[in-house]
Amino acid sequence: MRRPVVAGNWKMHGSRAENTRLINAILEASDEPACEVIVCPPAVYLWEIGRQLKDNRIALGAQTLCADSQGAFTGEVSGAMLKDVGASHVIVGHSERRALYREDDALVARKFVAAQAAGLLPILCVGETLEEWERGDTEQVVARQLDAVLAVAGVASFGRAIVAYEPVWAIGTGKNATPDQAQAVHAFIRARIAARDAMIGDGLRLLYGGSVKAANAAELFGQPDVDGGLVGGASLKADEFVRICAAATSGRA
Ligand code: 13P
Repeated sequence: MRRPVVAGNWKMHGSRAENTRLINAILEASDEPACEVIVCPPAVYLWEIGRQLKDNRIALGAQTLCADSQGAFTGEVSGAMLKDVGASHVIVGHSERRALYREDDALVARKFVAAQAAGLLPILCVGETLEEWERGDTEQVVARQLDAVLAVAGVASFGRAIVAYEPVWAIGTGKNATPDQAQAVHAFIRARIAARDAMIGDGLRLLYGGSVKAANAAELFGQPDVDGGLVGGASLKADEFVRICAAATSGRA
């Protein structure tokens, strides 16, 4: 049985004061959740939030990392540094990084490897753009993105990773994939990993991301191959986020 996961990607939002309010509200509103909960604040806040979450049931994730481990890489943050300040997870290959910062499949694969080398659990994002979706190229795009990582990191590495399917057209648009659409792509991803290693494919946790909110979470997470969500906008509202976490738990009951 795969344990459900909900990760909140705060993107470039927050301040020390707002973060404290949000974390406190999440902690107050949620009982011991049966699902795994991860918050991914901007890198500069990891240390402080990590301390606020210390001895708590919420895990800490970063939003990206440098593919290199140290050296003359001005502005970059290494996996070891993220680990050092308390992160246990890191998002890799988010579509905003791919589109806005030109991270290609090869770089994403290097970041995936760097994350694991630093002892972090990568949350690998895959997903097609609106144009690719309209052309019917979803499976082709997702396969290419997965295969790039498989080629470099090998299938065994997916035993220490989470994969998030985030259709770009659903991110921040209020237009989520339907549960059937999400299920179909998740089943495709699982089958592609399982073709190489059945046990790893079966155990791999697959998150859906793209306009997840409390109102649609239960239906999405109720799909057999949807093991939780990667949540953007709604993770900035404590009550929404807590309800989404509850939906991940009940959806799998
Ligand atoms: P939204 O939930 O705001 O659509 O963002 C999804 C996302 O990009 C999470 O990584």
